[in-house]
Amino acid sequence: MNQISPEIAGMQRNIDNIEIRPLAAALGAELRGVNVAAGVNDTQMAAVLDALHTHGVIVLRDQHLTPQEQVAFCKRLGPMRVSFMTEVSVPDAPELTIVSNIVKDGKPIGLVDAGALWHTDGSYLPQPDMYTVLHAIQIPQRDNVALGDTCFMSTAAVYENLPADIREKIHNAQGVHSLSYHIQRKIEGNFKAPPAKDTKPDVLHPAVIEHPVTKRKGIYLTEGHTKAIHGLPDDESRQLLDNIASFATQTKFLYRHKWREGDLLIWDNIGTQHLAITDYGNMPRRLHRAGISSPFNIFMQH
Ligand SMILES: [Fe+2]
Repeated sequence: MNQISPEIAGMQRNIDNIEIRPLAAALGAELRGVNVAAGVNDTQMAAVLDALHTHGVIVLRDQHLTPQEQVAFCKRLGPMRVSFMTEVSVPDAPELTIVSNIVKDGKPIGLVDAGALWHTDGSYLPQPDMYTVLHAIQIPQRDNVALGDTCFMSTAAVYENLPADIREKIHNAQGVHSLSYHIQRKIEGNFKAPPAKDTKPDVLHPAVIEHPVTKRKGIYLTEGHTKAIHGLPDDESRQLLDNIASFATQTKFLYRHKWREGDLLIWDNIGTQHLAITDYGNMPRRLHRAGISSPFNIFMQH
């Protein structure tokens, strides 16, 4: 999954001492030379955003941050969304959500099995998150190999390679995004679902979105949340969504992130989708997640 062409492997750049190392052909890059706790200047911040839009998902390694340091960095990316799931927020940092399987006093301290189906964060909301920032606090290992990888997909690479007949069908279509459908899928798949009280009204979003910065078009239909293509008969809609989902998950469109403690991973929710691999059982795992609202009108073309 992490094969990259020699041309891309050699495409490293230096901006204000930041080194950018692409991690896979379709998306993903590591940024070296940024120390978030020490402070990020405006030039570095512009380079971080540029790399984020270009590569879809970027990792800054060895960032051991307090919740307050993570929040201060995230605010540089845009307005932070405070999750409605307040029972799993980081103490004294309501902008951060705990993603964890750790149980304390009989209750999980965070979201368990967050993202076990392909999705993009907040697509079931009228205004989804533009970026997500996930900080690795505790990562399980077996035989010195990290568990709980996160896989990413380039939505633009998928769109650009879709068979013409499928592209034509979704060009002006809208997807129905549904949290209750997502919960149902999780229950059917024996994943741990969030409590039913977290349901929200379904929302419509364009099936194809032009990225507000890169102007690349990408699919905005997900395995996890897109219940239907609006206006199509149920069987036709299901068939089309299943065809797109199986096409989109080809290795050539993906990057698989192997976590290290201290990783600060940032992804662009318009340019990517992601999937959590839950292969660590009860081994403790903890990450702190932030959702950043869009500084752009993502859906302005419709
Ligand atoms: Fe997610």
